[in-house]
Amino acid sequence: MKILANDGISAAGKAKLEANGFTVITTNVAQDQLAAAINNEGYIGLLVRSATTARKELIDACPNLRFIGRGGVGMDNIDVAYAREKGLDVFNTPASSSQSVAELVMAQLFNLVRTVYDSNRQMPLVGATEFKALKKKYGKGMELRGKTLGIIGFGRIGRAVASYALGCGMKVVAHDRTPLDAPVMVMVNGTPIPVEVEHLELDALLGVADLISLHVPKQDGGAPVLGSQELAKCKKGVFVINTARGGSIDEDALLKALDSGQVAAAGLDVFENEPTPREDLLKHPRLSLTPHIGAATVEAQDRIGEELADTIMALNLTPVNG
Ligand code: 3PG
Repeated sequence: MKILANDGISAAGKAKLEANGFTVITTNVAQDQLAAAINNEGYIGLLVRSATTARKELIDACPNLRFIGRGGVGMDNIDVAYAREKGLDVFNTPASSSQSVAELVMAQLFNLVRTVYDSNRQMPLVGATEFKALKKKYGKGMELRGKTLGIIGFGRIGRAVASYALGCGMKVVAHDRTPLDAPVMVMVNGTPIPVEVEHLELDALLGVADLISLHVPKQDGGAPVLGSQELAKCKKGVFVINTARGGSIDEDALLKALDSGQVAAAGLDVFENEPTPREDLLKHPRLSLTPHIGAATVEAQDRIGEELADTIMALNLTPVNG
């Protein structure tokens, strides 16, 4: 039984599947040739990350496809309900990448409040000639300890961010449409310590947060979570991080808020128009940018590969003619 892992799969996940009788091909097929490849090669399963899409047209064109697996959390690149209606198994790996995304958020928090992203751009250019001027320019940093982090979207990833931030001595407040009434576990020397996090309405969170991190699913055609009205309700000089999905922050509104100083700086890992984000955004001096790498660690991808393999094996598939 052949599986196409079109956006790749970890060696551990591939090995586990192959040890259980599957053939796993990781050669990337262009989106417009995907249906033909699936049919011609007789793939029964398609594994994707966020790059490959599995829309209705592909699902209709591949009647022998039996499952679609998303190595990661967001399934906005798959027509999930339609595929399930057609009898396909569709699954993701919701728990495997939370730590990695949370650590990228922490990297951005530390980075933003000390302007490391811009210092890294300027030092190679003028560090040898304008060292003192740069020291002055970046000399108004802020500590994270004691500051309030507002987390919007308090699921697995939001809670993992909270755990790290609490461990750094930050105050954390959260907003979620369906709040989960459970403490956040902060790991101290390997021991989990339960900490209650205050839940606030969105406007209240916007009014108290010194820094904001978004952990919401893709806003399907709806209004962004942070548009111009919401950004105007934030504290002046707020820092904003988006590792969730492009479109959760209105990019025009963000640029205006950066220019006016309403937002001091922002860290973006995701963009409205991936994989071709707009140039004016990429070039803004107070943006710290990464190319959608929240889940891109060896550890997360190993866990994802193994979780995919376990889920596929649990489907108990047998060859159609066997
Ligand atoms: C996710 O939804 O899991 C993340 O956005 C990761 O996407 P990626 O697998 O393309 O890195």
